[in-house]
Amino acid sequence: MTKKEPRPKTAQESAVVIDFGSQYSWLIARRVRECGVYSEVIAHNAPWRVVAALKPKCFILSGGPASVYVPGAPLAPSYVYESGLPVLGICYGMQTLAYQLGGQVARAESREYGLAMLYKNEADVPLFHNLPDAIPVWMSHGDQIIEMPPGFTSIAYTENSPIAAIANEQKIIGIQFHPEVVHTPQGKEILRNFLFKICDFEGTWTSRNFVKQQIARIRRKVGGGKVICALSGGVDSTVVATMIHRAIGEQLTCIFVNNGLLRREEIERTLRTFRNNLKMNVVYVDATDRFLERLKGVIDPEEKRRRIGNEFVTIFEEEANKIGKVDFLAQGTLYPDVIESTATVSRESATIKTHHNVGGLPEVMSLKLIEPLRYLFKDEVREVGTALGLPEEMVWRQPFPGPGLAIRIIGEVTRDRLEMLRAADWIVMNEIKKANLYRQLWQSFAVLTPLKSVGVMGDSRTYKYTIAIRAVTSEDAMTADWARLPYDLLARMSNRIVNEVEGVNRVVYDISSKPPATIEWE
Ligand code: XMP
Repeated sequence: MTKKEPRPKTAQESAVVIDFGSQYSWLIARRVRECGVYSEVIAHNAPWRVVAALKPKCFILSGGPASVYVPGAPLAPSYVYESGLPVLGICYGMQTLAYQLGGQVARAESREYGLAMLYKNEADVPLFHNLPDAIPVWMSHGDQIIEMPPGFTSIAYTENSPIAAIANEQKIIGIQFHPEVVHTPQGKEILRNFLFKICDFEGTWTSRNFVKQQIARIRRKVGGGKVICALSGGVDSTVVATMIHRAIGEQLTCIFVNNGLLRREEIERTLRTFRNNLKMNVVYVDATDRFLERLKGVIDPEEKRRRIGNEFVTIFEEEANKIGKVDFLAQGTLYPDVIESTATVSRESATIKTHHNVGGLPEVMSLKLIEPLRYLFKDEVREVGTALGLPEEMVWRQPFPGPGLAIRIIGEVTRDRLEMLRAADWIVMNEIKKANLYRQLWQSFAVLTPLKSVGVMGDSRTYKYTIAIRAVTSEDAMTADWARLPYDLLARMSNRIVNEVEGVNRVVYDISSKPPATIEWE
């Protein structure tokens, strides 16, 4: 079995988020890091040993779906209160601390959900420093505090919650609203006040410091060993490879598998960047035929993913064996994946789509893992890429799924269809970039539908395929909204696609958000 990457030795102290199962827990950590303070999410039952390694300078108790008065509801571990460190309880976190410290929580007469106006009780408490007397906040709760614990005072209220924020002298604070969500416009100011006015953080968590620490760590860990890394050309694997290459140079070999499902010019661009600009050892394998053979006749999306994933693992293993003795496998695992699998208490999600990146590799190859991005969010990975001096074009690449164009061709994947999709996709990308919208969009691409319809070209009837254009805005791909692209841009893309792509006579624009749709069509 492979060993998981240990936590980074944080040179600095951190804000530890105790997770009670809220979908926003990771967002709290992310907002805290945006303030320059390192933060991690920890399960509510994590032992002190795990937490101590993070050098906590404060605790933030997350929201959650439970009610404190129900038997078995998760509570904050005793070290939170025994440590003497500042505590910020958010929503359920506030109710937990009130309950644990001797107050009373009960079901509210009416649920408070959505925007509310928060009014301060005192002119200036540190948490609301420099904020107006009335602050718009996002509420989402059914329980409320009916009696404060001894020593606490109410520092703010809303129309529905007479006790919407509480504090005591020991710097234990509770807030009923969510400062981490964008619907609380001054939420970041409130978190900043907590971190800097109450906890005295220095705010030294930067991507530059992170790169320095990680490079030193990788050198120590790898010693004289050999590392392999799967390149996809995407930002995560590029940042991982670059950081490891900075640390150990020639001891790293990258393997770039062309599965025949990549976008136009992707192969040339990736090889040029890695071999010529970054001067890395890259093994390039053109496995197009093997992948297309495996995909023959397959129309089920999950089966496509499974076959692509398995073939990738087989090829990667073959290539790794040719290199000789290898000690480490580098991967671009990100923090949201880690949180999904470990930190939360009550997040059970159905499999919507099986995501394949290099999944399955660690299990079949008995290699130790290096995952330098394991504690970073996507936008932090981009910052690290910039700190490493990678070109903007690489750092700001839109995400591209592991199974590539195979899941953007609805139905069987064939060479002809791939060519058709590549040509349409190229036009979409090209026009989006010309309109200066590429960076603002989470993803923008073309989908080849199996739908044929009647058209007219010249004086003749046609019966050809329909291309769908998909462009979405999103922060993290968990939810997404369709992008309100300008009409003339849509017109240009449509015009070019029907004129330049043989086999297509109709273009549609996908105006569904996620949920209920997903970003990819398959
Ligand atoms: P959906 O379609 O589930 O996609 O809304 C969310 C994000 O994940 C990407 N995606 C994948 N990435 N392997 C990947 O590496 C996959 O099988 C896969 N399926 C979807 C998708 O592009 C979007 O960014």
